Order: sequence, then structure tokens, then C-alpha cells
Amino acid sequence: MTVRTTIQRLVLLAAASLFPLGAQPAEQNPYVGSRTCQACHPDVWQTFHRNPHFRSLAMEDQPESRTGCEGCHGPGGLHVSNAGDKSKIVVFPKLQPAAVLDSCLTCHSADFGKMQIRRSSHSTGEVSCISCHSIHGSQEERPLLATSERETCYACHLEIRAKFELPFRHRVNEGAVLCSDCHNPHGTPMSTWRTAQSPRMVRPAFGNDIACTNCHTDKRGPFIHEHPPVRVEGCPTCHQPHGSTNPRLLSRPAAFTLCLECHNDVMGFGLDLERGVPAPTPGFHNIAEPRFQNCVACHARIHGSNADQLFRR
Ligand code: HEC
Ligand code: HEC
Ligand code: HEC
Ligand code: HEC
Ligand code: HEC
Ligand code: HEC
Ligand code: HEC
Ligand code: HEC
Ligand code: HEC
Ligand code: HEC
Repeated sequence: MTVRTTIQRLVLLAAASLFPLGAQPAEQNPYVGSRTCQACHPDVWQTFHRNPHFRSLAMEDQPESRTGCEGCHGPGGLHVSNAGDKSKIVVFPKLQPAAVLDSCLTCHSADFGKMQIRRSSHSTGEVSCISCHSIHGSQEERPLLATSERETCYACHLEIRAKFELPFRHRVNEGAVLCSDCHNPHGTPMSTWRTAQSPRMVRPAFGNDIACTNCHTDKRGPFIHEHPPVRVEGCPTCHQPHGSTNPRLLSRPAAFTLCLECHNDVMGFGLDLERGVPAPTPGFHNIAEPRFQNCVACHARIHGSNADQLFRR
């Protein structure tokens, strides 16, 4: 590995001040190279070889504006020649969130998973990259988070922490499922499920379906007989995605009350099937009878069926 020495750098620095390119020589702020930073910031340097951003230093395949420390902190010339003046170097926590975003996205805007970041609710909510990522303080090489993923998220989303402590839940606290299995914290494109509403940064799955079907593949379909709420409105129509006091993560304690939210003719509304509104429960379904209260005992393929239009098998 050939690395320019500090002395060579200083020569370049001197040359730059002798032959300034711009009209105001005093404003020249040359690049000095990361080895120069090493001398005064040994603590940061010491762990940097484990950082994925060390790559540009090791490979030397990038222009100096994109290499090592200065790839993020900007040129260090004036900072060094002014004995470490903090006002002459980019100090990230002092930047506005939008400026942090701009800085990181000079390199990361091409990552496919971050195409939507500028319009994500994190960006509009003034949450920037360094609210979650810690470049120098991370215990893990990837993805450079300050703490574990769920603790990172819980720090701001206290109400979600409470959901994962309910009796029925996805085992996020046990490490079996990650927030990022379902969410892309960098934002997502508009979804095909529940199109009119905010996608809540829920990851699309195969075929732009909702993330749930990545794991619950048997619910993926397509089915010959689709149950519209599953396909159109998505799984959260009936399930609490995080946790619930009800078995099967249902949003209602008894499944039939859930069904009757849509299949309701108790009041004799006479729902119009031709307009595609839900079918009323047939007359012989006497809800007062316990036998009829467990709708899914008979309509067992409630997520869709290839055999029966009424989802009984
Ligand atoms: C990927 C962008 C990036 C690179 C590359 C980078 N830094 Fe940083 N640096 C940051 C950010 C962001 C912070 C704010 C604290 C944090 O997020 O860890 C920071 C903070 C610092 C601090 C403040 C003290 C601290 O530990 O938080 C120093 C000093 C520093 N960096 C020096 C360096 C040096 C020296 C290098 C090269 C060895 C370097 N940085 C490479 C982004 C970067
Ligand atoms: C001659 C020694 C010296 C060199 C070389 C040097 N720094 Fe510094 N740097 C300092 C001093 C001193 C401070 C101020 C520390 C303080 O006040 O806490 C500082 C502060 C910083 C800070 C702000 C830290 C904070 O706590 O907010 C960053 C970021 C930083 N340096 C990055 C760099 C980078 C990147 C390089 C290489 C381009 C570099 N420094 C080279 C001496 C140096
Ligand atoms: C709300 C927290 C949060 C914010 C804000 C955030 N990230 Fe992330 N980032 C994560 C988490 C969690 C992961 C790991 C899970 C994943 O890959 O989605 C990750 C993964 C990554 C990865 C590696 C995987 C990939 O998708 O390429 C990169 C690179 C990255 N983030 C860069 C950024 C940049 C750049 C920004 C700002 C423009 C940013 N992140 C903002 C939480 C966040
Ligand atoms: C000069 C270009 C550049 C800048 C600026 C930059 N990065 Fe990176 N980043 C990279 C490269 C290159 C990698 C390594 C990619 C790899 O090895 O897969 C990387 C890796 C990462 C990773 C780890 C990816 C993973 O696979 O887990 C995260 C997180 C990340 N960057 C966040 C940031 C954040 C936050 C900022 C702004 C403070 C930033 N980066 C600024 C070039 C850059
Ligand atoms: C620094 C605080 C902070 C951190 C850390 C954070 N968030 Fe957020 N999150 C916010 C804010 C602010 C909003 C916007 C709230 C709003 O618009 O009502 C938000 C919104 C969201 C939303 C709702 C999106 C929508 O469109 O309604 C989801 C989902 C989300 N965050 C997931 C995560 C995940 C997953 C993590 C961890 C990887 C995380 N957040 C980490 C502050 C944070
Ligand atoms: C099993 C998939 C899944 C996991 C795991 C998951 N979420 Fe969600 N989350 C969703 C879905 C789906 C929605 C949208 C719900 C809706 O629109 O009714 C959502 C909505 C949200 C919202 C918007 C507000 C709300 O309550 O609807 C926030 C904030 C959020 N999630 C944060 C998190 C955090 C933080 C984690 C990890 C600790 C996490 N989520 C884990 C699927 C998940
Ligand atoms: C990362 C994989 C994964 C994703 C993504 C996922 N789940 Fe799960 N889900 C599981 C696992 C594993 C279980 C097993 C229960 C446990 O953890 O004990 C489960 C359990 C369930 C259960 C309860 C099953 C029972 O028999 O009680 C429901 C309902 C459920 N998930 C719905 C969803 C919904 C809705 C989504 C999307 C918002 C989703 N899941 C996304 C992995 C996932
Ligand atoms: C119309 C309401 C409704 C929608 C929408 C819905 N479910 Fe369900 N789901 C239920 C009911 C009711 C049960 C309980 C069935 C039982 O107890 O036999 C259930 C049970 C489950 C179970 C556990 C039992 C099993 O069959 O494996 C999983 C996992 C599940 N649903 C995942 C999903 C996923 C993933 C989606 C979205 C693709 C989804 N659900 C959409 C109503 C719904
Ligand atoms: C969010 C609204 C909604 C919920 C909740 C819901 N459904 Fe449906 N369901 C529909 C719609 C819309 C149709 C399609 C009606 C049509 O095509 O005429 C449908 C169709 C059906 C059909 C087939 C009817 C036919 O004539 O083809 C059955 C059976 C059914 N649902 C049972 C259930 C059961 C059992 C539950 C509770 C586990 C339930 N539904 C929950 C909206 C819902
Ligand atoms: C004991 C078994 C059983 C239970 C329990 C049951 N159903 Fe049915 N359901 C049927 C049968 C059988 C049919 C077909 C009737 C027919 O062909 O005339 C049917 C038909 C339907 C239809 C289609 C009506 C139409 O005219 O197209 C809907 C909607 C429906 N049930 C909803 C529900 C709901 C909601 C519940 C729970 C409150 C429920 N069912 C409980 C057996 C049951």
C-alpha cells in the first residue's frame, strides 16, 4: 500500500498556498490526507480500520474529496494549520439534519434502499442519518448503529416498545424479528396495498406485496378467490403488526366482531353487493348462537382460497 507521507502532504499544502487557484488565497482549504488526522485524533483512528469507510483509504481509488476522514469531514487544511480550530472542519452534530443528509447522500444516494429517503417521514420529521448511525461509536462494523437496532428505534418510539410487551407479539425483544424486517427506516415507495394512505415505511415484499408475506409465505397468494381486505387493505386491517392483547395478533378480542365490522346486516342496512361492498352475513347465521360466533371455524381459509369462494376450504 503506497501512502503519501505527512511531509509530502505538507509540501503539497505549501505549494497550494504559494500557487492559489482561487481569487482569495486565505480561503484555500486544501486536503491533507487522513494520516495527518491520525496524529491528533489517535482514538478515532485506532478503530477506523474496522469501519466500512476505511475502504476508500485502503483502495486509494477515489478522489481525495471522497477518501477517508475528509470524505465526510471535508478538507482539513485550515483545521490543521489553525491548531485544530473546530470552526474550520465539518462537525456533524452541529449541522442541520438536512445538511447531514446532503453530506451522507453525496455517496449513498445511489443505494437502492435509500431512494425514498428525502420524502420519508424520518427526513420530514428532522431525523437524520446520525440520529441512528454512529460512525465512530458503533460497536458493530455493520450497519454502524450506536446501539442494537431495536434500542435505536425504541429511543424515540416508546409507544412501540409497549406494544412488544403485550401478551401476543412478534418476538422483536427476543431478537427473532427485527423492526427492519418490516420497515425500511430510510423510507419506502408508495405501496399497492392501501394505496391511498401512508405506507408507514413498511417494506414492500415480493411483487410489491406487504412485508408480512416475506415470512408468512402461505398468505402470499395470488388465490383464485381473494378476500379483498387481505389483498387491498393489507394485513393490518385485521392484525396488530407489533403486538396485541388478542390471540393471533387480532385487532379485536373475538374474530366475529372483526368480521361484522364489514359483514354487517344486523341493522338491516342491506349492503349492495353489486357495488363490491362486503356481503352481509346470511340470514341463517344467528350470531346469538355460539356456533356461529367462531366464523373462522367454517370460513377457515380466511386469507384466500383456491377451492371455495366462501373460504371454507
Ligand atoms: C462516514 C463519514 C465519516 C468519516 C469517514 C469520518 N467521520 Fe469523523 N465523524 C463523523 C460523524 C457523523 C461524527 C459525529 C459523531 C458520530 O456520529 O459518531 C464524527 C465525529 C468525529 C469526531 C468528534 C469526536 C467523536 O469521536 O465523535 C472526530 C474527532 C472525528 N470525527 C474525526 C475523524 C477522523 C480523524 C476520521 C478519519 C480517521 C473521521 N472522523 C472519519 C463522520 C465521519
Ligand atoms: C494538529 C492537531 C490536529 C490535527 C492534525 C487534526 N485535528 Fe481535528 N482537532 C484538533 C483539536 C485540538 C480539536 C479540538 C478538540 C476540542 O476542542 O475538543 C479538534 C477537533 C476536531 C473535530 C471536532 C471534534 C468535536 O469534539 O466536536 C473534528 C470533527 C476533527 N477535529 C476532525 C479532524 C480531521 C478530519 C482531521 C484530519 C483532516 C483532523 N481533525 C486533524 C486537532 C487536530
Ligand atoms: C431511523 C433510523 C435510521 C436513519 C435515520 C438512517 N438509517 Fe441507515 N440504517 C438504519 C438501520 C436500522 C439499518 C439496518 C437495517 C437496514 O438495512 O435497513 C440501516 C442500514 C444502513 C445502511 C446499510 C444497508 C443499506 O441499506 O445499504 C446504510 C449504507 C445506511 N443505513 C446509510 C444511511 C444514510 C446515508 C442515512 C441518511 C441519509 C441513514 N442511513 C439514515 C437506520 C437508519
Ligand atoms: C465519501 C463517500 C461516503 C460518504 C460521504 C459517506 N459514506 Fe457511508 N459508506 C461509503 C462506502 C464506500 C461504504 C462501504 C460500502 C461497502 O463496503 O459495502 C459505506 C458504508 C456505510 C455504512 C455501512 C453499510 C453496511 O453495509 O452496513 C453506513 C451505515 C454508512 N456508510 C453510513 C454513512 C453515513 C451516516 C454517512 C454520513 C455521515 C456516510 N455514510 C457518508 C461511502 C461514504
Ligand atoms: C431520533 C428519533 C427517531 C429514531 C431513532 C427513530 N425514529 Fe422513527 N420516527 C421518528 C419521527 C420524528 C417520526 C415522524 C413522526 C410523525 O410524523 O408523526 C418517525 C416515524 C416513524 C414511522 C412512521 C412512518 C409513517 O409514515 O407514519 C416508522 C414506521 C418509524 N418511525 C420506524 C422507525 C424505526 C424502525 C426506527 C429504528 C430503525 C426508528 N423509527 C427510529 C423519530 C425517530
Ligand atoms: C411484523 C412487522 C413489523 C415489525 C417487526 C415492526 N413493525 Fe412497525 N409497523 C408495521 C406495520 C404493518 C405498520 C403499519 C400499521 C398500519 O398502518 O396500521 C407499522 C407501523 C409503525 C409505526 C407507525 C405508528 C403506528 O403505531 O402505526 C411506527 C412508529 C412503527 N411501526 C415502529 C416500529 C418499530 C420501532 C419497530 C421495532 C421495535 C417496529 N415498528 C416493528 C409492521 C411492523
Ligand atoms: C421476519 C419474519 C416475519 C415477518 C416479516 C412477519 N412475521 Fe408474523 N410471525 C413471524 C414469526 C416467526 C411468528 C411466530 C410467532 C412467535 O414469534 O412466537 C409470527 C407470528 C405471527 C402471527 C401469530 C400467529 C399465531 O399462530 O399466533 C400473526 C397473526 C402474524 N405473525 C402476522 C404478521 C403480519 C400481519 C405481518 C406483517 C405486518 C407479519 N406477521 C410479518 C415472523 C414474521
Ligand atoms: C379479514 C381479516 C384478516 C386479514 C386482512 C388478514 N388476516 Fe390473518 N387472520 C385473520 C383471522 C380471523 C385469523 C385467525 C384464524 C384462526 O384463528 O383460525 C388470522 C390468522 C393469521 C395467522 C395465524 C394462523 C395462520 O393461519 O397461520 C397468521 C400468520 C396471519 N393471520 C397472517 C396474516 C397476514 C400475513 C396477512 C396479510 C397478508 C393477514 N393475516 C391478513 C384475519 C385476517
Ligand atoms: C375490512 C372489511 C372486511 C373484513 C374485516 C372482513 N371481510 Fe369478508 N369480505 C369483505 C369484502 C369487501 C368481500 C367481497 C364481497 C363481494 O365480493 O361481494 C368479502 C367477502 C367475504 C366472503 C365471501 C362472500 C362472497 O359472497 O363471496 C366471506 C365468506 C367473508 N368475506 C368472510 C369474512 C369473515 C369470516 C371475516 C372475519 C374473519 C371477514 N370476512 C372480514 C370485507 C371484509
Ligand atoms: C357453522 C359454519 C359457519 C359459521 C360459524 C359461519 N358461517 Fe358464514 N357461511 C357458512 C355457509 C355454509 C355459507 C354458505 C351459505 C350458502 O351457500 O347459502 C356461509 C356464507 C357466508 C357468507 C356469504 C354470504 C353470501 O350471501 O354470499 C358470508 C359473508 C359469511 N358466511 C360470513 C360469516 C361471518 C361473518 C361469520 C361469523 C359471524 C360466519 N360466516 C360464520 C357457514 C358458516
